[in-house]
Amino acid sequence: MMAINKSAWFPGGAGQSLSKVLATTSIMELTNGRSFDKLFQAHTLVLNQSLSIAGLMSLNCAVELGIADLIHSHGGPMPLSELARSIPIPPEKAPSLRRLMRLLASHGVFAAEPDGNSESETAYLLTPFSELLLTKGTNLSAFIRVNSDPAFMKPWFHMGDWFKRKGSTPFEVAYDGKCVWDLTKQRPELNDMFNDAMSCETCWVVKAMVTEFPQFFRGLKSLVDVGGGTGASARMVAEAFPDVKCTVFDLPHVVATLPESKLVNAVGGSMFDSIPPADAIFLKMPKLWISSL
Ligand SMILES: C[S@@+](CC[C@H](N)C(=O)[O-])C[C@H]1O[C@@H](n2cnc3c(N)ncnc32)[C@H](O)[C@@H]1O
Repeated sequence: MMAINKSAWFPGGAGQSLSKVLATTSIMELTNGRSFDKLFQAHTLVLNQSLSIAGLMSLNCAVELGIADLIHSHGGPMPLSELARSIPIPPEKAPSLRRLMRLLASHGVFAAEPDGNSESETAYLLTPFSELLLTKGTNLSAFIRVNSDPAFMKPWFHMGDWFKRKGSTPFEVAYDGKCVWDLTKQRPELNDMFNDAMSCETCWVVKAMVTEFPQFFRGLKSLVDVGGGTGASARMVAEAFPDVKCTVFDLPHVVATLPESKLVNAVGGSMFDSIPPADAIFLKMPKLWISSL
């Protein structure tokens, strides 16, 4: 059995104060009358919740390392050692890669199975989750990158502050009164990152819409995609329904980055001023963003 040195766990006397608390508090007070089982369950929930960022950041790390594409190109269950060689990582990082993959597998990002050729090795496969990260496919990687980017995470650190103030949003509290669109206007790299994230999330949803629900679009002569970002949705609608004249309408700094297109018109402006006239208005935004802004 391993001996645990409490003073190493609670340096500077914290261990002593913990034992003082334990010595002076009755079990009933500690558990607040609940069973130890319940207390331990709650304790686990607190620890899991407070470390939940590990899930998002490990996912982002997998995106940065291109792990889904590497497993895909391997063409079958990929042994960990082979994954380490393909990334490639220095040999001393192999145990950390094993931990990363175990965590991601426990979250359903990858599947793990014993490697057929070596008893001690684990091999990893794609799951429906990681198939959505493949570069040649739906590729939701940009969405993960934007949500784990420090600039876009910053507002989450200001939520408490925001609750105590009148009006505004956590974003504005974090950025001295600037909203997300002011920030993306000022910083082209964030503008590109944000717009890429939106279009990768949008592409497959709109593709499904035009194929599964064509009745939404049939009979229209014109459609304006308000807040249409990179115009990915409008282009898909225009391709599927060539008789519908499609316009993408967004803030001027977003429209300025759009490539020339014969399929769609691009108009810059603010929807709070006016919207280009059309038979139908298409207004789509990821649900998560609505609640986080
Ligand atoms: C969450 S994104 C959604 C993009 C796209 N519709 C999609 O679903 O992928 C919101 C979009 O609204 C645009 N936007 C924000 N304020 C706007 C305004 N006042 N007028 C027009 N577009 C605006 C942003 O630039 C951004 O492209």
